[in-house]
Amino acid sequence: MRIAMIGTGYVGLVSGVCFSDFGHDVTCVDLNPDKIAMLERGEVPIYEPGLDLLMAKNVEAGRLTFTTELAKAVDGVDAVFIAVGTPTRRGDGHADLTYVMAAAEEIAKALTGYAVIVTKSTVPVGTNRKVLETMKAANPDADFDVASNPEFLREGAAIDDFMRPDRVVVGVETERAADVMSEIYRPLFLREFPIVTTDLESAEMIKYAANAFLATKITFINEIARLCEKVGADVKEVSKGIGLDGRIGNKFLHAGPGYGGSCFPKDTMALARTGQEFAAPIQIVETVIKVNDEIKRRMVDKLIDVCGGSFNGKTIAVFGVTFKPNTDDMRDAPALTIVPAMVGGGAKVRVVDPQGRREGEQLLPGVDWREDPYDAVEGADALVILTEWNEFRALDLKRIAGSMATPRLADLRNIYSGPDAERAGFEVYETIGRQG
Ligand code: NAD
Ligand code: UGA
Repeated sequence: MRIAMIGTGYVGLVSGVCFSDFGHDVTCVDLNPDKIAMLERGEVPIYEPGLDLLMAKNVEAGRLTFTTELAKAVDGVDAVFIAVGTPTRRGDGHADLTYVMAAAEEIAKALTGYAVIVTKSTVPVGTNRKVLETMKAANPDADFDVASNPEFLREGAAIDDFMRPDRVVVGVETERAADVMSEIYRPLFLREFPIVTTDLESAEMIKYAANAFLATKITFINEIARLCEKVGADVKEVSKGIGLDGRIGNKFLHAGPGYGGSCFPKDTMALARTGQEFAAPIQIVETVIKVNDEIKRRMVDKLIDVCGGSFNGKTIAVFGVTFKPNTDDMRDAPALTIVPAMVGGGAKVRVVDPQGRREGEQLLPGVDWREDPYDAVEGADALVILTEWNEFRALDLKRIAGSMATPRLADLRNIYSGPDAERAGFEVYETIGRQG
């Protein structure tokens, strides 16, 4: 199959590279010339484990190329995937479809034969039909079908998620489009990964319902964690105890400083807006959005307590600022609420993050970036673990506590335990939902 992938961000680039690894001939397109220049030099513009090697292998095999010229890329292809951003629209919280519609229009004008136009971006219900209308208006002679193929990969585990998905969801209206999609995903079907073939609206809704459900699950356990702190229970034990019930499942039950990232915050908001628009408000999701914001703010209060009542004049080491480990993505990271509150409150903040610095330097002004965790805690008044990078899981806590001015640890990802902290000599050990 010949494929054009429009947008080379976290989803487009991973999908393009993985499709080429299936043996398809893929051209990745982006309107950002700097990104394409980097990719042509063999450099990956984002941090995603394993992507550099897989990309190099497929470029070498001649199956993967990059260009800024959309028209050249879609000439003669079987499918064009739209994987551009759908950020929150300023003002009303809806998904901003400007990039999707601009791509659709450009594709329509460039098509030279039949192709399936596949929306991989996360888009509200009804968008694929809008894509169809927009394309017909832009080029009444264009020969195409539309398909919805939402993506469920997680950053940091993107290649494995793409290559070993829980399911592939395909929304189509014609047999011809279904055949093209089956051919593209054949390597996965042969390995018996499930496929859900459905209509356009259901495929679009599946994506939002999945993300909203996961965000709700995290928020639920975060609320239970808060109560655990008050009543003397341990949220880790509670997660384990409820997660063993097959109807609940043990995933996405890690309590933390609130969910962040490029998708849960924007997708819950877009789903809530859709519900309101159709007079079927999804109150549970509206509440999740509100509670998650509160949780992030509550973290600030928790950290003020850890610092003895004020950030003013304190030196605080922060380990991890990306929204999760194994990514360089800072979009909607809890650190964007927490670190500015520390800086604004008069603290000197030293940050260590294996991949966060490139974006973080602009997003977190006034912080002191350090490479080495042990250097960052020297003489500090508090250490805050915000992101559970593997690098932070086996630290010499005794050495850390010994080098701090006041040994206080706020472990917002529960990667250590009370006994660990006590043995190391921490005077204060604060957790999420556990007895410190
Ligand atoms: P991103 O912002 O990282 O990348 C989008 C890219 O599209 C950018 O490089 C941009 O320059 C490019 N672009 C925009 N308009 C273009 C056009 N007309 N022609 C060519 N290139 C264009 O976005 P992302 O994180 O990859 O997300 C893309 C979509 O996938 C979103 O709808 C998102 O919700 C969804 N999604 C993301 C993830 C994730 O983990 N990031 C997972 C599943 C789904
Ligand atoms: C999420 C979904 O997991 C993917 O299936 C989906 O494709 C993607 O959004 C998307 O639509 O973009 P991602 O945002 O990359 O993936 O990362 P997650 O692992 O889901 O983590 C999201 C946030 O939830 C992070 O801030 C993480 O720390 C937090 N989280 C996750 C918890 O606090 N507890 C958990 O148990 C799991």
